[in-house]
Amino acid sequence: MNVEYLPPPPVPDDASGIPTRLVFGDGIVATLGEEIRSAGVTGRAFVVADESVARAHAPAVLTSLASSGLRPELVTFPPGEASKSLEGAARLFAWLGAQRAERRDCVIALGGGVAGDLGGFVAATWLRGVAFVQVPTTVLAMVDSSVGGKTAVNLPVGKNLVGAFHPPVLTLIDVQMARGLPPREVRAGWAEAIKTAAIFDPTLLGDLEGRDPTTVDSKLMARLLEAVVRWKERTVHVDPKERGIRIALNFGHTVAHAIEATAGYGTFLHGEAVAIGMVVATRLSVRHAGLDPTIGDRLERTLAAAGLPVRFGAGAPPIDAIVARTGFDKKVEAGRVRWVLLAEIGRVIVTDEVDPELVQAVLESVYV
Ligand SMILES: NC(=O)c1ccc[n+]([C@@H]2O[C@H](COP(=O)([O-])OP(=O)(O)OC[C@H]3O[C@@H](n4cnc5c(N)ncnc54)[C@H](O)[C@@H]3O)[C@@H](O)[C@H]2O)c1
Ligand SMILES: [Zn+2]
Repeated sequence: MNVEYLPPPPVPDDASGIPTRLVFGDGIVATLGEEIRSAGVTGRAFVVADESVARAHAPAVLTSLASSGLRPELVTFPPGEASKSLEGAARLFAWLGAQRAERRDCVIALGGGVAGDLGGFVAATWLRGVAFVQVPTTVLAMVDSSVGGKTAVNLPVGKNLVGAFHPPVLTLIDVQMARGLPPREVRAGWAEAIKTAAIFDPTLLGDLEGRDPTTVDSKLMARLLEAVVRWKERTVHVDPKERGIRIALNFGHTVAHAIEATAGYGTFLHGEAVAIGMVVATRLSVRHAGLDPTIGDRLERTLAAAGLPVRFGAGAPPIDAIVARTGFDKKVEAGRVRWVLLAEIGRVIVTDEVDPELVQAVLESVYV
């Protein structure tokens, strides 16, 4: 199997905002309540956030919601991936029940991908689905998880195994909200930005090249992040359920998921694992998909300049464990590992025909 994907076309005007109205800006949190009303929500607003995000950002969010008459309520959970669980969801269901949340109400996820996935899963299933709104506060959530409708919780046997597609009616991205995010988290989110540029947009890749995201001013940050999220919007518009081009967004993720699972969740941030995974996928692309080696080097240098890991390094699981784990990935079909490779920047090849010995050799080359 070999399938080629080219960048998706712009979302047509008559489909704009469907299913998700995407509002992007710098310092726009005060408009949240009115935006939710324009999205057709008439009931109450139930805000879900982790404790540290709530401390920093809930006051402005609640003020905006209250001034639009949405009678907000807030619930918090402990920060971290462990909260994205069935137990975490059960606590939120109990809270919504106690609040007598109704069909016309909405759930708002305020925070990173954990709040988005957990809050989204609860919104998808409470009363068989209520309106959902995302207000991302991490770079990763701004460029990736807050658009596209994937929601999930983890099980002890693996990540994201229980979930639903439930696109937000509104995603409001205020880049100011990412201020105060630890540098390591900023860089991890940036990895997804570099990924998006690599698969779809040579010009954007040029804009990201040589930059350390922790020193980018907020105006430029806003422009770059919007360019990235618009690519995600286009992609999921064409392929909402990941039956085609959406798989291209998994560039670097075959190995990333294996690293995260074998190193123990939490050793590497997701974006850090994706950075190493992209180095592996880039080297495979040079050897298997005809990617120009100088482009491959450029991509690796772009990751390194952003302060992201480009080698497995200390704390990495053994190669055998990584290889074994790639066989468990959701992208495996009929026992064959599907790789997302690059023939060029902006030309993706999805293939299950990569020689396992080549994979082994490339993994070894990144293991220093
Ligand atoms: N649904 C999707 O399409 C999708 C895509 C990619 C990732 N994800 C999921 O996203 C999750 C990771 O998301 P994440 O990296 O945003 O993690 P996260 O939500 O846990 O946030 C990371 C940390 O940053 C803190 N934080 C968040 N915003 C902050 C701010 N503005 N200032 C200071 N601290 C802040 C949080 O408290 C947390 O400790 C994973 O569970 C992953 O599976 C989902
Ligand atoms: Zn990712």
